[in-house]
Amino acid sequence: MQAIKILATGSYLPPKVLTNFDLEKIVDTTDEWIRTRTGISERHIVDEKTTTSDLAFEAAKIALDNAGLKPSDLDAIIVATASPDTIYPSTACWVQKKFNIPGIPAFDISAACSGFIYGLTVSASLIESGKYKHILLCGAEVMSKVVNWEDRETCVLFGDGAGACIIGKSEDGSSGIISSCLGADGTLGELLIQPAGGTRMPASHDTVDKKLHSVHMEGKEVFKHAVRTMGSTGERVLKEAGMTADDVDIYIPHQANMRIIEATCKRVKMPMSKVHIIIHKYGNVPAASIPLALDDAVRANKIKRGDIVLTTGFGAGFTWGGMVLKW
Ligand code: UT7
Repeated sequence: MQAIKILATGSYLPPKVLTNFDLEKIVDTTDEWIRTRTGISERHIVDEKTTTSDLAFEAAKIALDNAGLKPSDLDAIIVATASPDTIYPSTACWVQKKFNIPGIPAFDISAACSGFIYGLTVSASLIESGKYKHILLCGAEVMSKVVNWEDRETCVLFGDGAGACIIGKSEDGSSGIISSCLGADGTLGELLIQPAGGTRMPASHDTVDKKLHSVHMEGKEVFKHAVRTMGSTGERVLKEAGMTADDVDIYIPHQANMRIIEATCKRVKMPMSKVHIIIHKYGNVPAASIPLALDDAVRANKIKRGDIVLTTGFGAGFTWGGMVLKW
């Protein structure tokens, strides 16, 4: 076991709530379609001036407070996001500026919905190196500024929000990562993509007119891969941990679609009663969905020290990751 500990969690949602009924007034959709096809009833969205780093900063302040630490106690800042403030500087650097703690390393993880699990894996290695005592890991998204509000197939799915964790060493060795895996398949990148704005398709009048700076997704294909990969990743980390679903106290999946979560649970034989669901109230909040669900579960007293936590994620890239943690 990698003896690291999630010392505390925090989360932040922008106050404005957009319901499915609100969306009925924006695109040709219905509350019934969105709820039955995705499990989503509402999501939070930011106002015009709020950025991804603003949400990460708010979540991070709560996590630090819950850990009983000051910003100056941090040794590194990592932000997992698919909707950064700017391509560079990283969103982590903007968070660092807000805390006014120059000097420590700050960087983003670009692995879409799997970003938090990638970030936790990197954080664990940094902690194990002995050079870093306290790492701030955030998953933060402002998807409302990168979806095409005329595309009903994508705009109804996503939400904004941030979750944060403070990660440190498990001093008594009682907490840690029992098993983990990361993976990616770049050959399937076109299936879920924000096509323009990088060097591949620099911003132009044409890219703006064609709405190529927003999310493009082959929903059905992504769905199939998500079900298959979330299931196989869950099975793999459980097997490597020498466990079955019976040993798991709580399962925190990435939350893109309730039907994907149900299919994954079937595959890993996980009763739905062990799954902590937030998709109905937050929508798909890519890299933020796992830390938001973790914090939600902690606040609901559904996770206590010593519990076995399974988490799995899947997203654009494609990327995926899974972990069995002792909390
Ligand atoms: O975060 C990780 C990555 N993301 C995901 O994992 C998402 C994966 N994909 C999905 O969750 C699902 O594929 C969607 C929720 C995006 C779509 O669900 P679906 O069951 O695959 O629907 P569909 O794309 O097959 O569409 C079924 C019908 C179509 O109409 P026709 O062709 O049957 O007449 C769509 O045009 O539903 C229509 N439709 C809608 N109707 C009302 C698509 N979007 C909407 C909508 N409201 N918002």
